[in-house]
Amino acid sequence: MNYSRIIGTGSCLPEKIVTNHDLEKIMDTTDQWIRERTGIRERRITEDDETTGMLAEKACRRALEAADVDPAEIDLFVMGTTTPDLVFPSTACLIQKKLGLPDCGAMDVNAACSGFMYALSVADKFVRTGDAQKVLVCGAETLSKITNWEKRDTAVLFADGAGAVVLEASEEPGVLSTHIHANGDYADLLTSNAGVSRGWEAAKENGGRPEVEMRGNEVFKVAVRTLGRIVEETLGANDLRKSDLDWLIPHQANLRIITAMARKLEMDMDNVVVTVDRHGNTSAASVPLALDEAVRDGRIKQGDLLLLEAFGGGFTWGSALIRY
Ligand code: ACO
Repeated sequence: MNYSRIIGTGSCLPEKIVTNHDLEKIMDTTDQWIRERTGIRERRITEDDETTGMLAEKACRRALEAADVDPAEIDLFVMGTTTPDLVFPSTACLIQKKLGLPDCGAMDVNAACSGFMYALSVADKFVRTGDAQKVLVCGAETLSKITNWEKRDTAVLFADGAGAVVLEASEEPGVLSTHIHANGDYADLLTSNAGVSRGWEAAKENGGRPEVEMRGNEVFKVAVRTLGRIVEETLGANDLRKSDLDWLIPHQANLRIITAMARKLEMDMDNVVVTVDRHGNTSAASVPLALDEAVRDGRIKQGDLLLLEAFGGGFTWGSALIRY
């Protein structure tokens, strides 16, 4: 039986920090409201000429370095993003040769905030079937580019970043299981208002860019319920108990959702990796960014049992149980 195992992590955040106090100056909001309702204090935002691909390239280089893997050895490159540089080529293709990867398969996966969980799931399956030995997996976003900076209900939430991992085939797990789901019935609760096939008319209001539209309160309730279910599914599939977990690495949308998940898992918040206070919601980048932070600062140690989970537009949701 082949398993996949994470052998290196990397991440990249834009230089520019935007605090809640900065936002107070440009819209009708307060630092107190943002902190109390979301847990966010500040976020990183790209410059106009900085793209998702640029952040992804740096995160991938760092993951390859940490894994001590020559890019030429990579058999597949999967990238979760909902803010690609272009309609096509995919962002994975755009940075494939800059990274020095061979002519391996390279693709973007769009599952909004669950993008990294989907990408990891695809990558894990390629390794398990024996079709790939080493896979580069990335989650990268520039959500700020599809945010309407005049709308306080969404502008305070979203941000930019990238995180990546290198997976390698192994006889020992590794990734114990991945789980992905979607329910398009909820598409209207969290969506962008313009696109290629429907046209760009609606994007005029936001300077020609589509913008995120979210019925936050309704999304919140479904997110907490749904993530609770996938956690049960993930532990059940591996015949493990909540108390076996060492770390929860959740999608960083809202600190209240994260604490609700920790309560469901009966986990102390000291065992939950939280970055939402400094990163905001970086969509597909949030889980690998949090993972990389906790690996690099030494909190996550070899042999620890990690539960990764995410929920996002679609709705989509996904999880992975990993022996690090
Ligand atoms: N500053 C001040 N007041 C605000 C702000 C703001 N930035 N934004 C909204 N408000 C006001 C609203 O107008 C409303 O006022 P009213 O009562 O006078 O009408 C009040 O605050 C409450 O608004 P709610 O939307 O009910 O606030 P809520 O407590 O639900 O928090 C939030 C909103 C933070 C968006 C929360 O609902 C949330 O986190 N939802 C889930 C987000 C999520 O998980 N998304 C999935 C992933 S994202 C992806 O896939 C791209």
